[in-house]
Formats: sequence, structure tokens, C-alpha cells
Amino acid sequence: MTHFDLQPQRLAPTVFKHRRERFLKTLDGAPAILPSAPVAIRSNDVEFTYRQNSDFYYLTGFPEPESLAVFAPGHPDGEFVLFVRPRDKERETWTGPRAGVEGAVADYGADRACLSEEIERILPRYLESAAQVHYPLGVNERLDVTMLRLIRAAQSSRERLGQGPRALLDPRAIIHEMRLFKSEPEIDAMRQAARIAAAAHCEAMRRARHGMMEWEVEALVNYVFRTRGASGASYPPIVAGGPNATILHYVTNDRRLGAGELLLLDAGCEYDYYASDITRTFPLKARFSSCQRELYQIVLTAQLAAIDSVRPGISLEEVHDTAVHALVEGMRAAGLVSGSTEEIITTAAYRRFYMHRTSHWLGMDVHDVGDYRRDGKSRQLEPGMVLTVEPGLYVSPAEEAVPAREMRATGIRIEDDILVTAQGHEVLTAGVPKTVDEIEALVAP
Ligand code: GLY
Ligand code: MN
Ligand code: MN
Repeated sequence: MTHFDLQPQRLAPTVFKHRRERFLKTLDGAPAILPSAPVAIRSNDVEFTYRQNSDFYYLTGFPEPESLAVFAPGHPDGEFVLFVRPRDKERETWTGPRAGVEGAVADYGADRACLSEEIERILPRYLESAAQVHYPLGVNERLDVTMLRLIRAAQSSRERLGQGPRALLDPRAIIHEMRLFKSEPEIDAMRQAARIAAAAHCEAMRRARHGMMEWEVEALVNYVFRTRGASGASYPPIVAGGPNATILHYVTNDRRLGAGELLLLDAGCEYDYYASDITRTFPLKARFSSCQRELYQIVLTAQLAAIDSVRPGISLEEVHDTAVHALVEGMRAAGLVSGSTEEIITTAAYRRFYMHRTSHWLGMDVHDVGDYRRDGKSRQLEPGMVLTVEPGLYVSPAEEAVPAREMRATGIRIEDDILVTAQGHEVLTAGVPKTVDEIEALVAP
């Protein structure tokens, strides 16, 4: 049994405090109320493992369900109020310790903490004097009902009191813009998530062989995630052998790996609430066949060109266009498409083999929050943003018009996580190889 000295770490309390200070300044004096994620039922009385809502966690660091956070700029009773579950000796025997109101203040920096059952009694004080209220609808529907009732009650007291909320605003616009830019401690967590996922991919490359079931590789990846201190996968791993690699969201992972097939593995983990997202495509204890190598090299060339383009001032659209241009050149050379590169791009004929976008933001959520467009245009990259670069090439088993039969039923994607820096970029997931030679060395029998 190997032991790794890598405990899941909570970001320092000062990180959350600093975020709250910045958030409070942007609220224009109006209170913001954030609900925790609801508990989700898996089946009957069994719940999914609880994962806090990312926005709520970002500002509070508080991991427990049935909580509510109030941010009240300049409020005399304190600017950060947490409503939490009560301490309960009997319940805690079943489900583990709770912070309670004392812990919410002592360990999570709340200026004031109240019991969740007091929301209806206490919250009106924060609402009645506010001209507007920030609250995100749709996160926790049970709390939505309570909140709308309390906000309506506060509105109806306008005539009597001469004050009360006129507008309901969505605080996600502010929080998501903050989350889009990662600070040093956040980048450290993302580097760790990237390192652990890279180790899992290397292990999968070393171990995967034909005859194994896809789920065995899934188990291997999850084993590495958990033994190295990640809380688990950041999304259901895609372990797609042979033809399954042409199904973009294949997650059943229940087929036997065949000799001579490629395995597309898309798996990332979550460490301290930050995600990694890596894809590699590799042969099973074998070398790439010449046809596989040709297609693989097309994707790798496109991915390297797209990564190379990442720097401040470049837009996501340009990163995508760089990948598409290189993919189309490769597809033409391989005889998959015909016509001029420009024509193939304008008519989108390449989408037969490349039907998704090249990048998404990455952070606390694998498809992280933040606007992709600004003023009707694709947004320019800035230092501190993290994005994936993940071009692919997918030849469906049903594809008739391809130059070689062997090309059919082949799916290839290569995905890395890229931090935008002042100088250009840093590849967070560089710990897992991707050139043909490096991969063949790692998967060698
Ligand atoms: N693993 C999900 C994605 O690559 O977007
Ligand atoms: Mn991705
Ligand atoms: Mn992925």
C-alpha cells in the first residue's frame, strides 16, 4: 500500500475573507443572499455525496447543506451572516460533526451566525431596508419559495415604511466574473488537481491492455485520484475504447478493450474544490498503427498550435480558429475532406469530423463560469484565466466516405489545461505525455 503525503487542503481563511471584501464592495449597498446546494437524492433514501454549490463555497468556504449566506454591506450587525444547521448530538452520530453557530463564527469567519430555522424570522430585517436584493434563482428551489415570499412581504411594506426592495438582481454576474480570474492560491490548487490527474493518466497508459474492461481503467483512475488526496473525479470519466471514442459523452465504460484499438481517456479530478480536465488517446500495450498515427498527429499538431496561440489579448475564438485551421489542413492531407482550406472552414464541412468547440473555462466547475463573449465579440484572454484546449477528430463507424477503412470507428482527442500568464501561458497538465514517441514508451509492453 502506497501512502501519499497529500491531504486535501482548504484554502486559507484569508482567501475567503479577501473574496468577501471584494464582493461586498461591488454590491452597491444592497444585500446579497446565497443558498447552499440542495441535497440530491440518488434513489429512495440514499443521497449523493454532498458537494457544496461553487458560488456559495467560493465566498464562504462552508461545506454544509441547509445553509444560507447573507452579505450585507455596512450592516451594523455584521456584513457576513451565516444561517446553519444546529449542533445535534444524535444526528451528528449518524452523519458527522456540524459547525453549528459557534463554528460558523469561529472557523468560517462569519460576523454573526443564526440557525437555518430562523431564516424567516431574521431575514426580513435585511430585506426591508434594501432598495434592491441580490439572490440567484434556481440554485435551491425550496429556498427560492421562501425567498420570494420574504421579498414580496418586504416589497409590500414599502408604502408603510417608505422603503423596501424594488429590484431582484442576480449576484452570479459579479461572482462569476470574480471566479474567472484565478489568484495564486487557487492556481496552486489547480496545479495540484492537474498533477494528480496527470498521474492517473500515466498509470492508465502503463496498465491498460486489450482484454481489460473499460471500467477497470475507470477504477484505476479513480484509485489514483483518491489515494493522492483528490475528493474524486470532477466529472464522470470517459473511458472509450475503439468505436466508443466517437461518442463524445460516452460514460457507460462497459465494453471490453479490443486488440489494436486506441483508448480515449477523458478524466480529471477535483482537489480543494478545483477541477482538472485531461484527455489522452493511446494504444494498448502497442505502437500506433500507421493510420492511427496519421490521425493522431493531425490532432496533436492542431492542439500544439492552439496552445501556442494562448496569450493575453488573443480571443477564445482565435484559439478555436487556430485549432480548426490546423485540423482542416490535416484532414485534407489525409483525404478526409476535399476542397480548399478556406472553403472547408466557411462551409463547416470539417464538422463531420470535429463537431465541438476547442475550449471552455476551467475552475471550481469543470465547465467553469464566466462570460465567453463581451460586447457581442469573443472575449480576449487575460492573465489568471484558465481554459482547456481540446481539439479532436472523430470518424464514426458509419462513415462511408473515408479513404481507408481502418480510419473508421476512430476517435482522438487531446486535452490540456492552460493558465493564461502575463508572458503567455502555462500548461498545468504538462505532467502527462502526448507525443507519439513518449506515449509509445509509456505504454510499451
Ligand atoms: N470532460 C468534459 C470536457 O472535456 O469538456
Ligand atoms: Mn474539457
Ligand atoms: Mn475533458
